[in-house]
Amino acid sequence: MRLDGQTRLYAGIAAAPEARRRALLGHLAAELGRPEADIAILRDPMGKPYLADPGLEYWFNCSSVDGLLLIASSRTGPVGADIETVQRCIPVWEDASRTFAPAEQALLAALNPPDRPLAFARLWTAKEAVLKASGTGIVHGMAEPGLEHLDDLPAPPPWRPVQMHVGGECYAVTWYTLPIDEVLVIAARAETSPKPGKT
Ligand SMILES: CC(C)(COP(=O)(O)OP(=O)(O)OC[C@H]1O[C@@H](n2cnc3c(N)ncnc32)[C@H](O)[C@@H]1OP(=O)(O)O)[C@@H](O)C(=O)NCCC(=O)NCCS
Repeated sequence: MRLDGQTRLYAGIAAAPEARRRALLGHLAAELGRPEADIAILRDPMGKPYLADPGLEYWFNCSSVDGLLLIASSRTGPVGADIETVQRCIPVWEDASRTFAPAEQALLAALNPPDRPLAFARLWTAKEAVLKASGTGIVHGMAEPGLEHLDDLPAPPPWRPVQMHVGGECYAVTWYTLPIDEVLVIAARAETSPKPGKT
């Protein structure tokens, strides 16, 4: 499913690692207009996959949950993706949010209890997407990048995109939601963005 000009969500067809690999190859081949055999993917020391040929000037990132595969891609620079279901967040959000900055924990605590898992999922996916765009992943915790300035946390989707900062870089983060049966899927996509005031 095409979510916007550059993001696709494959539902239910890529649960196993080999299926995810094939889906990614097919996606990249179609986007780049090349045979799959010509697409070589390497991994950096942190495990982030990237195209072996930098001349293609094409960046991508993947995330998967419960058989859903999200591939975010960009022709303008590094990109990160994260996908979760709110149902998966319900039993873990309280413990997992202790890794957030105190101001973000306070944002969650101020919400009505039933709204907290979705709000947590939104914070988590945005942070992880940015950290995956930057390439570090979540090894250094989830306090940074911060989202304590988010003023529409209790609002239902759709949400407006935000800018987030990490490692001196600025990322534009967009959220997507998709209801599948009783399950609400939430995904975030982070793409390098010019810093405010920079041309
Ligand atoms: C990357 C990471 C955030 C994945 O989190 P997750 O919620 O378990 O999984 P997701 O489905 O969202 O993402 C997994 C995908 O992210 C990508 N990925 C892996 N490492 C990555 C990194 N450092 N940065 C960005 N993307 C990465 C891969 O495409 C991976 O899918 P694949 O293994 O099927 O190829 C987490 O593993 C992490 O923080 N890793 C840090 C680096 C690390 O510890 N590396 C170990 C080897 S040194």
